[in-house]
Amino acid sequence: MKVTVVGAGAVGASCAEYIAIKNFASEVVLLDIKEGFAEGKAMDLMQTASLNGFDTKITGVTNDYSKTADSDVCVITSGIPRKPGMTREELIGINAGIVKTVSSSLIENSPNTIIIVVSNPMDTMTYLVHKTTSLPKNRIIGMGGALDSARFKYRLAEALEAPISDIDGMVIGGHSDTGMVPLTAHATRNSIKVSEFISEARLEQVKEDTKVGGATLTKLLGTSAWYAPGAAVSSMVQAIACDQKKMFPCSVLLDGEFGLKDLCIGVPVILGRNGIEKIVSIKLSDAEQKHMEQSAEGVKKTNALLEI
Ligand code: LAC
Repeated sequence: MKVTVVGAGAVGASCAEYIAIKNFASEVVLLDIKEGFAEGKAMDLMQTASLNGFDTKITGVTNDYSKTADSDVCVITSGIPRKPGMTREELIGINAGIVKTVSSSLIENSPNTIIIVVSNPMDTMTYLVHKTTSLPKNRIIGMGGALDSARFKYRLAEALEAPISDIDGMVIGGHSDTGMVPLTAHATRNSIKVSEFISEARLEQVKEDTKVGGATLTKLLGTSAWYAPGAAVSSMVQAIACDQKKMFPCSVLLDGEFGLKDLCIGVPVILGRNGIEKIVSIKLSDAEQKHMEQSAEGVKKTNALLEI
């Protein structure tokens, strides 16, 4: 299994590191436009191999897409991250041009690849890859829900004063501060609904804290987060590489599922060797469905800003 990660910034390097530490890929190519940067990050990461016990070979390259040839999975993290006070949507102008160029260069060298889009505004960047390439729709996946769900579980564990491994929960919808739909009614602690343990008001607080999870970190760090985004991507790449058929909420092209069409937005899917093996339709409450539709409207508004 060969994986390419484009963008050797904090998110890209963190993706490469977690993929390597999980030891399922034979090779990770880290590519960046900044001369020598990916080479440096790759060398630094390779010098952790004997300490962290992995055999994945990490190679760094400066904008040389020939080195990414025949990648099974390509992850696009390139583009500018948001600064405090910025929304993900404000990044569209610069990032759309970058994602378009990067995706076509990747596909030219790896026509059978699966692409995971991380660059923001992620749902719109995923849609852009659908619109500007001819990859089949099961091979273009946006990473947002896996991260937002991890943040949801973190907040739930905090509220319930429970270990995170006791908690299960999922966030669907758009990967934006207003678009996320944390499925609070479905969240559980060891199969018992979380509403048995905390008040409705506390659960509402968890929901709001989850939705601004990225913004909270951007304010604290001065730039956008990287550990959890990197870990979320690595789990998705592993599910594909090891054909795990695991369920993650991912941004995928919808054609009527959840009553939505012609956009990419987060819904539960099964990830395996073919990328998106299945979109899982679940019954939403009226309130959740309404929230999902509002979220879709927001994503479509951002999509309309694309010049395609
Ligand atoms: C975040 C970025 C990756 O939510 O969108 O941290």
